Amino acid sequence: MTVFDLKTWMQPHLASVESALSQGIRADSPAALGEAMRYAVLDGGKRLRPLLVLATAQAVGDGVGGAAALRAACAVELIHAYSLVHDDMPCMDNDVLRRGKPTVHVQFGQAQALLAGDALQSLAFEILTPPNTSVSADVQAACVALLARASGYQGMAGGQAIDLASVGLRLTENQLREMHRLKTGALLLCSVQMGAACVMGVPEAVQQALTRFGAALGLAFQVVDDVLDVTADSALLGKTAGKDEAADKPTYVALMGLDGAKRYADALTTEAMQALTDTGLPDARLGPLRALAAMVVERNN
Ligand code: IPE
Ligand code: IPE
Ligand code: MG
Ligand code: MG
Ligand code: MG
Repeated sequence: MTVFDLKTWMQPHLASVESALSQGIRADSPAALGEAMRYAVLDGGKRLRPLLVLATAQAVGDGVGGAAALRAACAVELIHAYSLVHDDMPCMDNDVLRRGKPTVHVQFGQAQALLAGDALQSLAFEILTPPNTSVSADVQAACVALLARASGYQGMAGGQAIDLASVGLRLTENQLREMHRLKTGALLLCSVQMGAACVMGVPEAVQQALTRFGAALGLAFQVVDDVLDVTADSALLGKTAGKDEAADKPTYVALMGLDGAKRYADALTTEAMQALTDTGLPDARLGPLRALAAMVVERNN
């Protein structure tokens, strides 16, 4: 069996996402807002969510989904970047380091960070709905619905609210799973679902298996984030390590211990891989998704 080379696959996709994001966020905006937005988005981040969109579109279609998938890839990264800007603010996690740089509010002030986050969120939906005919109206509507739902109270924002309300509490496993599913899992699942939505006529059974894949991977991702907060150092992470325990956040490490959390992340990845097999798609098409899922648990930042 030939081993899939994720690096080679990723390179051109990372380049096109980077270039589309850079073109999409103009620096010449009122009162330097664009500068803060560009600072928040460009030159940093693993771009896992965009890669998931493109890898899913490739798994279910002939290419990587054309203009629609590239737009969806950029849109979910913009929502993610906005969530990080707000997550780092003093009223939330109060972090000073992100992607190896001072956080947006440290660099530009709190009001500008708040507005940059707001504007990134709006821009995501603008990018999903181009005025030309490069993306069909059906695909636009499907992606807008998926991303709106995953970002709002039933997704990321809702999960962040639970996170903040849970400081100092001992959550049950079910409560913790629900918090992680929303605050982080929702946008990862949405990346997979938008990738599939960019290709017309994907069978229902394939969509369902992909949904199981995205849900398992999304949860695994936040479990690993909890583990890395304990095991990695700040330089490698590009953000301050050890913050969860210091802030008394409920995490999988707090619930299960370090080894228990690592084992759970492995089990979720196995579940994700099985869901990919259940799609019934040819192995050759699933290479990028399998490799991205493996990267989620094996990563060190
Ligand atoms: C960090 O996400 C925040 C979480 C949702 C856990 P990533 O680890 O994907 O951050 P970047 O995009 O690579 O900086
Ligand atoms: C953040 O979770 C999730 C979102 C930004 C929605 P964390 O607070 O654990 O993320 P990091 O560790 O600061 O990246
Ligand atoms: Mg947080
Ligand atoms: Mg945080
Ligand atoms: Mg974290």
